Amino acid sequence: MNENQKRGSFSGTLGFVLAAAGSAVGLGNIWRFPYLAAKNGGGLFLLVYIILALTFGFALLSTEIAIGRKTNQGPLTAYGKLNSKWSFLGLFSSVVPIIILPYYCVIGGWIVKYMIAFLNEDMLGTTADGYFGGFITSPVFPIVFFVIFLFFIALVVYKGVNSGIERLSTILMPILVVLMIGIGVFSLFQNHTDGSVTRTGLDGLKIYLIPNFEGLTFKKLLTVIFDAMGQLFFSISVAMGIMVAYGSYVPKKTNLLKSVNQIEIFDTVVAMLAGLMIIPTVFVFQGQEGLSAAGPSLLFVSMPKVFNAMGGIGSLIGIAFFLMVLFAAITSSVSIMEAIVASFMDKFKMTRQKATVVVTVIALVLGLIVCGGYSFYYFELTLPNGSIAQVLDIFDYISNYVLMPITAILTCILVGWVIKPQAIIDEFTANGEKFPRRGLYIVMVKFVAPVMLVFLLLQQMFNFIK
Ligand code: PHE
Repeated sequence: MNENQKRGSFSGTLGFVLAAAGSAVGLGNIWRFPYLAAKNGGGLFLLVYIILALTFGFALLSTEIAIGRKTNQGPLTAYGKLNSKWSFLGLFSSVVPIIILPYYCVIGGWIVKYMIAFLNEDMLGTTADGYFGGFITSPVFPIVFFVIFLFFIALVVYKGVNSGIERLSTILMPILVVLMIGIGVFSLFQNHTDGSVTRTGLDGLKIYLIPNFEGLTFKKLLTVIFDAMGQLFFSISVAMGIMVAYGSYVPKKTNLLKSVNQIEIFDTVVAMLAGLMIIPTVFVFQGQEGLSAAGPSLLFVSMPKVFNAMGGIGSLIGIAFFLMVLFAAITSSVSIMEAIVASFMDKFKMTRQKATVVVTVIALVLGLIVCGGYSFYYFELTLPNGSIAQVLDIFDYISNYVLMPITAILTCILVGWVIKPQAIIDEFTANGEKFPRRGLYIVMVKFVAPVMLVFLLLQQMFNFIK
């Protein structure tokens, strides 16, 4: 076997694009994007988001995929191969997925539980708040579902890039899109009367799509930009080692620029569909106030309440919804585990099978600590950004809010100033392809992206613009 066969590789462009899009499309698209859009003036947020995706997002995503393909290494060793003094950056970008994988799988377990709850109609007639609180604080069940979810992810990664990850993504991603469109269309035709007011899905759609400039101040615009930037940054799965790992499995003949564009379009379209699905539904059943929920409370409390309020068909929509969320979480979790497995294979010359077992054990231990944060040793800690945290939130804060922007800033410095942007552009044009956004790319990696990321880091850490 030659080196490539041993490491594995995607069979072609489509497999790579769907796997990378599967990584990008995750809980972030579903539980944060719609909320941020509703909070930040609807269409205004969408516009800012798209502009950032075409500039900032494009530069970061291109850089990581090219680093992977150029070095043919997982994140832990890729940076050192570009410049031996920068090996430490590999460590940063491998620590991030090690922290994220366990808590993402804990949430994956919650999703499995909710899908089953809708299947058995357990949820009907409960207050969704009580149900969620009761579930996550129970000492055993969250662990059981976490372990089921983690083992499934491990199985996919164990089977390898081609017969595991690629095959799974080519099945799940199309189904996910169909489910989203179906639920989205359904949500537009909903209406509900509360006392004397009737709200329709179309009213909700207007909140989502029409730009709202009312009361727009400079400070508010800054918040919109930061929210869009933070969201985009998390959504395209950069600074977590994932895109470097996936890039390292991309065949040399693949057109990278086209792939980057397709991944970004896929991710953005799915985020927008998530908004189309969630904003009208929540607005119809809970009004404007319902739209202020994000994160776990949107997924595990607000949405179940909406499904309960729909009556008979609610269970069916609930099942479809949680199945869709489950698919999104599975493909993202697989990618984050793969980032670590690739690192271990390349650094310690382990087989894929052995690396997968080691990573699963690490995730299992850390995941148990996360689960226990809601039961055995429940505590509340106030983070520097003002939010109240349990173990899961602390893991999220360290990885997502602190280490990821630092990793991305350092990557921009390495590429922009040490190995120079041309090294990345050469990877994009290796088969004679054109790279029309050359000037934009160079300005972005050298100046604009690192400066924006420094502000993002400070904002996320301390939340100084409120
Ligand atoms: N893009 C993913 C999301 O939106 C981010 C992610 C990928 C998180 C992989 C965890 C694992 O959720």
